[in-house]
Amino acid sequence: MMDPIRNPYAPGAGSPPPELAGREKLREDVRIAIARVQRGNSAKGTLMVGLRGVGKTVLLDKMRSDAEESGAYTLRMEAPEGRSLPALLAPQLRLALLRLNRVQAAKAVAERGLRALASFAKALKVKYEDIEVGIDLDPQPGLADNGDLEADLTALLVEVGSAARKAKIAVVLFVDELQYLQTEEFGALISALHRCSQLKLPLTLIGAGLPQLRALAGNAKSYAERLFDYPQIGALSAQEAESAIVKPAQHEGVSFSAKAIAKIVSETRGYPYFLQEWGKHSWNVAPRSPITQKDVETASIEAVAALDESFFRVRFDRLTPAEKRYLRAMAELGEGPHRSGDIASAFGKPVNALGPLRQSLIAKGMIWSPSHGDTAFTVPLFDEFMRRIAPDSSWRSD
Ligand SMILES: Nc1ncnc2c1ncn2[C@@H]1O[C@H](COP(=O)(O)OP(=O)(O)O)[C@@H](O)[C@H]1O
Ligand SMILES: [Mg+2]
Repeated sequence: MMDPIRNPYAPGAGSPPPELAGREKLREDVRIAIARVQRGNSAKGTLMVGLRGVGKTVLLDKMRSDAEESGAYTLRMEAPEGRSLPALLAPQLRLALLRLNRVQAAKAVAERGLRALASFAKALKVKYEDIEVGIDLDPQPGLADNGDLEADLTALLVEVGSAARKAKIAVVLFVDELQYLQTEEFGALISALHRCSQLKLPLTLIGAGLPQLRALAGNAKSYAERLFDYPQIGALSAQEAESAIVKPAQHEGVSFSAKAIAKIVSETRGYPYFLQEWGKHSWNVAPRSPITQKDVETASIEAVAALDESFFRVRFDRLTPAEKRYLRAMAELGEGPHRSGDIASAFGKPVNALGPLRQSLIAKGMIWSPSHGDTAFTVPLFDEFMRRIAPDSSWRSD
């Protein structure tokens, strides 16, 4: 048996993989963009889009540590369902301002920033009751205190960016799960970043979210299309998937047969979350190195069971019975994307009766619309999961 303690694989939302395969180019692009912003050169922000489990969060974290290493100040946030953007941003901006306040050249401007933050929190507290932020200096009347999110956030970010410019440091916002932001709040953030970019201030956004993010940004502000790059994060190529599996084992003196690797790549289709799960279970069932195709076959059963209990299950448990039936009807049609009419037929209801259900599933981040009238899962292989969990036709009945 192989030592389970030395098993290197790391399935789990946000768990850093032992080998971050296939993302070098993107990391380099973002590194260059941040270095340009720091010098006052123009560069777009980055909004990474992709399905669940493709590695957006761990990539965002890696980019963040790259940025810190290069001397930038970074802020890290996750847009949760049900909290406001100002509540999320205020404490992080405060930390950045306090850091800038310790740089002699930026001190005066950072103090103005801290006053702006106090005004911001006070003026917006009425509307966004969840704002909680330490107040270091008194509010400054007339600065970021309109009570209007877009105007005040713009004023505040301009202060942060101005302090950063004095300090010759880039401030970079890293925000995950951006699809959960309310349109109005997202619009305010985009508008504030746009202003900073016009002023060539060293402040930028690196974000991540589900594929609908691009449309959400565009709906919030039409010019968002030009303000950001939208790299698509997806499954790894066969070669990248191979190195995600092989390299971590190599470090432990363990190898895989060529057929074992091919089997893992085909079972996982190169999706990073699945690769970690298959790597983990293949290691655990194998009696010895090299890990064989037979080992992988045994491991597949456990890997699927583990995914059903975690990766798929956490999403499934948040659904209403009607939402589950909608997704089950979709799954009946296969992987997708599917036409709304086809889903409605499978479901046994008219298309227009299903609009609200479809909308709530989009809001929960379960499905998205790749093009008008099309619907697709945001979780890879979710159709197979739905068929496993509800195999017979009993789901059809109301
Ligand atoms: N490039 C990669 N190579 C290998 N494994 C990866 C890679 N990116 C992510 N993973 C693994 O995939 C899983 C999901 O990553 P995560 O960042 O949470 O995805 P997302 O945020 O897109 O849902 C984690 O277990 C992580 O270790
Ligand atoms: Mg994530």
